[in-house]
Amino acid sequence: MHRVHIRTYGCQMNERDSEGVAALLRAKGYQVQAEEAGADIVLINTCSIRGLAEEKAIGKADHLLRDRRAGKGPRLVGILGCMAQNRGADLLERLPDLDLVVGTQRLRHIPDHLGRLLGEPAPAARVDVAEEAGFEDALPGRDEARQVAAFVSIQQGCDMRCAYCVVPRTRGRERSRSPESILAEVRALAAAGTREVTLLGQIVNQYGRGSQRAEGGVSPFVALLRRVAEVPGIARIRYTACHPIGYRPDLVAAHAELPQLCGHVHLPFQSGSDRILRAMNRPYLAERIRRLATALREARPGMTLSTDVIVGFPGETEEDFARTEALFRELGFEHGFLFKYSPRPGTPGFALGDNVPAAEKEARLARLQEILALRSSTENLRQVGTTQRVLVEGPDRRGGRLMGRTENERRVVLDGPASLIGELVDVRITGAGQTYLDGARA
Ligand code: SAH
Ligand code: SF4
Ligand code: F3S
Repeated sequence: MHRVHIRTYGCQMNERDSEGVAALLRAKGYQVQAEEAGADIVLINTCSIRGLAEEKAIGKADHLLRDRRAGKGPRLVGILGCMAQNRGADLLERLPDLDLVVGTQRLRHIPDHLGRLLGEPAPAARVDVAEEAGFEDALPGRDEARQVAAFVSIQQGCDMRCAYCVVPRTRGRERSRSPESILAEVRALAAAGTREVTLLGQIVNQYGRGSQRAEGGVSPFVALLRRVAEVPGIARIRYTACHPIGYRPDLVAAHAELPQLCGHVHLPFQSGSDRILRAMNRPYLAERIRRLATALREARPGMTLSTDVIVGFPGETEEDFARTEALFRELGFEHGFLFKYSPRPGTPGFALGDNVPAAEKEARLARLQEILALRSSTENLRQVGTTQRVLVEGPDRRGGRLMGRTENERRVVLDGPASLIGELVDVRITGAGQTYLDGARA
């Protein structure tokens, strides 16, 4: 039996795709293992979002192929996902003895490709990055083991054209999966014991755009949320990513109406400078972020917000950045993913160059990181002594204890029997670390 290891880089979409590929391979008799050591096939599911993300995956593949040349590596090495889609056969220039390149739209064909590669004595590299229409409903299944919290893909691709962003190239046109198909998956998950679902897409608030009608003034995404909330057993619903454009009042209101919809929203704002937002082709003003953040916090008391920010976009002056810094501080995001601009070939903004010096980007990033560190440590300390409802997801990585999350997306580590996994328990917060809270059953 062949042993496969799948290494995943990138966002939740890739995690979900890797689960699907694993299930597909298991169904064909492969053994999928968590460890790289001892695997005879290693598949690397990749991300292209920043130059560094690509370099990491290329470095990993290079290392494996070098081992193989030295007679100790895996028999087959493949690159899957976003970088495969983005660079296709060009990857063979960097990694000439790579065996397999499969793009985001072709993952369901991996078992066929592996079968052929394994059946030939000296197989040529296989590259499959064709675009495929329709929604990738094709990656069904996931681990046999129950997932307390599961990702459910509801949308593929993206039709926005943010100047910096490679995703429309790596994931194709925007397509929404049908509500029936999504609900069938959620029901099956719930029946197997899943308590929380995160609905995934690049711009989920625009779910159904072009294919479904707003009925009774309710946008298709909100209609979907309502139906998911009716599935018995589903206690929590999250979604990501959303875009300030098309984030309508009915979605804000859903956070007040649907108890299952969690009190945490990831609301990427990218820049606080209207001039830079325009250059990024993000067609909103900073004021819109301020209003949305306020409305969300009013809709659901205790709501926490996280965001994405890019520093050093071409042409960003100190004054532009000062606006970003001020907005970031003012809105008090509980969490943030902070990035230095990385020019991506083939994106609409690539021609703008990359004219903010590296040291300046670094300094701007550090200023935001400092605000964030202060904010999260005070917020975490404020939780100490409170009682929070925690969905226990499984064993903590460090072993011996359990890990769960509050509805505000705070990680809590606690002691307790494994029978608590999958339960919502009230936990008294006893201490605060950098990235998690310590708790004890109340
Ligand atoms: N669809 C999501 C974003 C997906 S990419 C959305 O619109 O919010 C995740 C984040 O990576 C983006 O929000 C952005 O902050 C960052 N990012 C994307 N391209 C980048 C680039 N070229 N350089 C630096 N950061 C980038
Ligand atoms: Fe990229 Fe913009 Fe689409 Fe998000 S909305 S995936 S940043 S193009
Ligand atoms: Fe995600 Fe990276 Fe692809 S952020 S969609 S894995 S380019």
